[in-house]
Amino acid sequence: MTYKFAAISGASSGIGRSVALKMARENVSVAIFARRIDKLENLAEEIKALNPHVKVFPFQGDVRDKDSVERFFNTCELEFGPLDIFVNNAGIAYSKPFTHLDGKQVQDLIETNFSGSIWSIYHAMRLFEKRNTGALINISSTTILKASQAVPLYAATKLGVAGLIRSLEEKYLTNKDIKIINIIPGPTLTDLVPGTIGRVDAESMISPDDIAHWIWLAINSPKNCKVSNLVLRNSGVF
Ligand SMILES: NC(=O)c1ccc[n+]([C@@H]2O[C@H](COP(=O)([O-])OP(=O)(O)OC[C@H]3O[C@@H](n4cnc5c(N)ncnc54)[C@H](OP(=O)(O)O)[C@@H]3O)[C@@H](O)[C@H]2O)c1
Repeated sequence: MTYKFAAISGASSGIGRSVALKMARENVSVAIFARRIDKLENLAEEIKALNPHVKVFPFQGDVRDKDSVERFFNTCELEFGPLDIFVNNAGIAYSKPFTHLDGKQVQDLIETNFSGSIWSIYHAMRLFEKRNTGALINISSTTILKASQAVPLYAATKLGVAGLIRSLEEKYLTNKDIKIINIIPGPTLTDLVPGTIGRVDAESMISPDDIAHWIWLAINSPKNCKVSNLVLRNSGVF
C-alpha cells in the first residue's frame, strides 16, 4: 500500500516528533497533534523545509478532552482526505511508587494514557473501517511485559490499551488491508520522565529516530507477514 496521510498524537517532542519527520521524508503528509502549538508550528516549518512535497497540519489539542480528539480526526479528513495511518503516541509518565502519586497525577495518567488513547483509537478505527483500509500504530512500552516498581500506574495504563490492541489485532488478522501494530519500546532518549537524561547512561537508551525507522518497516511489511507486537529493547540496564 502507498501511504499518503498519517496522523500522529503527541508529535510536539520525542518519539512522535521523530515519527512525523520520518513520515515526511517518506512523502507522507502529516497531521500533528499536541498541546504545545509553538513546538508543532516549529516542527511544521522543519517538515516543509525537509520535503516541500508533503502537507503538514499542526493541531493544538488535548487527548484528555474527547471533543478535541474528535475535532482533530474530523478536521484531518477535511484537510487531507482519507487517513492511512494513525500513530497513537501521546503519553505521560511519573516515576513514583503508586501511593506517592497525588490525585491529579493519578487522574492525568488515566485520562492521558488510557482514556485519551481509547478515544483516539476509536475515531481512527471508525475511519479505517469505513474504507476497509489503514494502519494503526500504538506506542506501548516494555513496562507491559514485566512488573514495574518505577512506574506502576503508567504500566497499568499501557497494559489496558494493549488489551484493546490485542483484540483489534485478532479481529483484523485475516484482513490484509487493516494493520494493527503494537510498538513496545524500552527506555528511549526523550523528555518523558524529566531528569532521566543525565541520571542514566544515555548511550544505552533507544533513540526516537530508531523507533520511527522500525515503525516505517513494520507498516510496510508484506500483506501476508503482519507485524503485531514489536519489542524494541535498549542495550543496558535502566
Ligand atoms: N521515553 C521512553 O522511555 C518511552 C518508552 C516506551 C514508550 N514510551 C511512550 O512513547 C510515547 C511518547 O513519549 P516520549 O518518550 O516521546 O515523551 P515526550 O517527548 O514527553 O512526548 C510525549 C508527547 O505526548 C504529548 N502529550 C502529553 N500529554 C498530552 C495530552 N494531554 N494531549 C496531547 N498530547 C499530549 C506531548 O505533547 P504536549 O506536551 O505538547 O501536549 C508530547 O508530544 C508515550 O506514549 C510514552 O509512554 C516512551
